[in-house]
Amino acid sequence: MGVWRYAIESVKVVRSPQAVARLRRAARGKVVLVPTMGALHAGHRALLDKGRALAGSDGLLVVSVFVNPTQFGPKEDFSAYPQTLRADAAMCRAARVDVVFAPPADAMYAGDHSTWVDESTLSAGLCGAARPGHFRGVCTVVAKLFNIVRPDVAVFGEKDWQQLAVIRRMTRDLNFPVRIVGVPTVREADGLAMSSRNRRLSEEERRRAAGIYRALVSAQEAGQPTGAAAKRAIERDILQAIPETRIDYIEIVDGETLAPVKRVEPNTIAAVAVFVGNVRLIDNLRMA
Ligand code: PAJ
Repeated sequence: MGVWRYAIESVKVVRSPQAVARLRRAARGKVVLVPTMGALHAGHRALLDKGRALAGSDGLLVVSVFVNPTQFGPKEDFSAYPQTLRADAAMCRAARVDVVFAPPADAMYAGDHSTWVDESTLSAGLCGAARPGHFRGVCTVVAKLFNIVRPDVAVFGEKDWQQLAVIRRMTRDLNFPVRIVGVPTVREADGLAMSSRNRRLSEEERRRAAGIYRALVSAQEAGQPTGAAAKRAIERDILQAIPETRIDYIEIVDGETLAPVKRVEPNTIAAVAVFVGNVRLIDNLRMA
């Protein structure tokens, strides 16, 4: 594959790992990476803005746009995942991103790719239980991105709390010299966490989906003393707002170890995954 790059909406879009590595070597200031799968929305925008602030005006802000096949299960929506590179590049330009790294799948994975990064503790529960192999795919691609871009700092959203915890653990365990920065969840006006999946909800489902966040807030505000009480309260409120739902999980866990807690403490979070129609939505909130 040739080393080529071009400008969409005048942000530099590079396709090959070699090209982005070359730009990285030429960087003078701090190098900041924001990994994404594209279909960028206002939630991602907050990460880009944080990335720009961390890089400063003389640093290099790199945003990767790559729908990573290895983190999707066989029955998941990989082939249906929206690809909107032109609009993504426009948002990146508005956010003063320096480089969009959008590799084709075969530039990231050789046909006989056979090496994986497997975080084995934090990945086991919550979304990892419902999506076997998901975090192995996430860790592998993020490790590859770290090796290609060699960022000083990488930015992730708290929306995917477990992912953030797993990435922090992987970074520590494998000694990546990268500082991991988390950004608070960006929400719609009614509280629904922004996600590219929200556009697959019907109008009615979209309205009901706000009940997930309301349930989390009311458990937080009620100051539930125990994990079990918080879980019951959240479950009751979600079922009331979305009677037809299938709850994948509601877990009250320590924010760092992701282990279930008996008593609600300052670092306790509630994490939920709920089907609204056939769209699986996740959210989380600190309980104290
Ligand atoms: P993606 O779903 O595109 O998300 C990219 C980043 O945006 C993640 O760090 C995610 O937590 C953050 N994000 C998404 N919605 C957000 C919201 N409403 N508020 C704040 N941050 C939000 O997560 C992935 O891609 C992939 O797993 C990836 C890390 C890129 C590896 O392939």
